Amino acid sequence: MAREILVLNGPNLNLLGTREPEVYGSETLDDIVEGLRRLAGERGFDVRAVQSNSEGELVDAIHAAAADGLLGAVFNPGAYTHTSIALRDAITGTGLPVVETHLSNVHAREEFRHTSMLSGVCLGVVVGFGPTSYRLAFDALIAHLD
Ligand code: DQA
Repeated sequence: MAREILVLNGPNLNLLGTREPEVYGSETLDDIVEGLRRLAGERGFDVRAVQSNSEGELVDAIHAAAADGLLGAVFNPGAYTHTSIALRDAITGTGLPVVETHLSNVHAREEFRHTSMLSGVCLGVVVGFGPTSYRLAFDALIAHLD
């Protein structure tokens, strides 16, 4: 069976490319996912990419990934990072290894972005490197899996 990894993106990340490019850069989410698919292929993995603006759909995507035997997730929860106990519980409830990933350095921004409901139940966190955050998170996850 192919070794598959979930690349999960939360609210407003579908707008990447045009959304506040001075904060989030000019790459689209499709560009980022395409880059990860290439990287994954080189490492012998497949990618399942899901983006949703709805908290419940993100919970469902984590449940489905675990039920389908995916090995882990690179997850940018967007603004739900700072609020979502439901997403935290989905991670602990499934045991799916998750690397929390952010394009911007949330710690250098507004105070409400300094808190994450999820970091404490994730394998690790990568913040602040733009699209490179995803690639670093992906490599860290597969290093952990190997
Ligand atoms: C983000 C940071 C969050 O605070 C914000 O709500 C986002 C994007 C990031 O990737 O930098 O939507 O997760």
